[in-house]
Amino acid sequence: MKRLDGKTIILAVTGSIAAYKAVEVARLFLKRGARVRPVMTASARKFLGPTTLSGITGEPVHADMWDSSIEGELHVTLARGADALVVVPATADRLAVFAQGRAEDLLGALALCVSCPVFVAPAMHPRMWAHAATQASVALLRSRGVAFLGPIHGQVASGDEGVGRMIDPEAVVEAVAEMLGSSQELAGRHVLVSAGPTVEDLDPVRFLTNRSSGKMGFAIAAQAARKGARVTLVAGPVNRATPANVERVNVRSALELQTELERILGPELRGADALIMAAAVADYRPASFSDTKIKKQGEGASLALVRNPDILAAIGARRTGPSPVLVGFALETGDEAAVTAYARGKVDAKKCDVIVANEASRALEGDSNTMYLVFASRDDAVGPISGSKDEVAAVIVSELAKLFERTPRP
Ligand code: C5P
Repeated sequence: MKRLDGKTIILAVTGSIAAYKAVEVARLFLKRGARVRPVMTASARKFLGPTTLSGITGEPVHADMWDSSIEGELHVTLARGADALVVVPATADRLAVFAQGRAEDLLGALALCVSCPVFVAPAMHPRMWAHAATQASVALLRSRGVAFLGPIHGQVASGDEGVGRMIDPEAVVEAVAEMLGSSQELAGRHVLVSAGPTVEDLDPVRFLTNRSSGKMGFAIAAQAARKGARVTLVAGPVNRATPANVERVNVRSALELQTELERILGPELRGADALIMAAAVADYRPASFSDTKIKKQGEGASLALVRNPDILAAIGARRTGPSPVLVGFALETGDEAAVTAYARGKVDAKKCDVIVANEASRALEGDSNTMYLVFASRDDAVGPISGSKDEVAAVIVSELAKLFERTPRP
């Protein structure tokens, strides 16, 4: 069982019949050693007495943004000391408030003010959860890194059945402890990850792309977030859930990917501490884009292509110091010697710190990987490292942490 000693958790309760479950969540957080600071919305108090929460946690229940007994701005003070904001239960209305960034009450202001991970455990009637308005809020919040804990399928208060039931208190506490209880060796770092394929449009209905699933980049983003980094994931078109506490930016083409990465890094490359280029960037794009569908003509056709910029190499060439740490990927065919030799060439050509080299037949689409790490700073390759993409991601992120130890903060 992961402990939470020394961690401060803001437990926010909103107005749902499941509010009583927040009491058990508070108790389980306390059992793991956390300090629990309760916040209740006005409607939560219709379902649960503040005395119950203050009695269990030994802390005052904060409900009023205008509480004159508190010095300074309550939402700022609470946000400053928080290691996690956990909303249990989260109503449909509250998700909409968060999605819109409204700050009309203490919890709304607090959600805008915190820099710690935010977890929500939704509870509502299945039709409310399934409604397009709620799902739009959920998608937006997920893309901003909010971690959703449930809801699950089951019976809800009205007796109806469906997805909308809050997950069990133990599962809430376990998920938060899993995140906060991991070593936070990347805390204070901003890690930028690219993932997935790029799609190069030819006309309104046709395009060139590749088989990259995005799994590796998403696994790295999730792992870096677990280790406390602020993570921005720039993803090509893949149907994949945004990992918890990761901010996602969607792109389509190589040129769009380059624009977004350059925007985030800024002209002096100070916008992130590391760039992990796990995206499978198309080497070529059609020389021209046709606004109308290209008609078939004759028996054969050929396609004129132009070279896409090498995004990583361009950033490597501009870098003047050790930051940002640059990690590239290489998908190669051949035996170990061939794969690592190609990777060595890429470390030099792209002026990056590490190339993660994969053997092509095993890396594409599947869930597991065998890889070698080829560093600019050492002659021998590290590997083979085999395992699921999550396991391999953990190795890459721990190597990144080691590289950071040698890199001054920008
Ligand atoms: O040269 P190659 O395509 O094998 O290099 C792969 C690495 O370079 C990956 O990290 C990939 O994201 C990056 N790359 C890039 N821009 C390109 C092609 C690849 O940044 N146009």
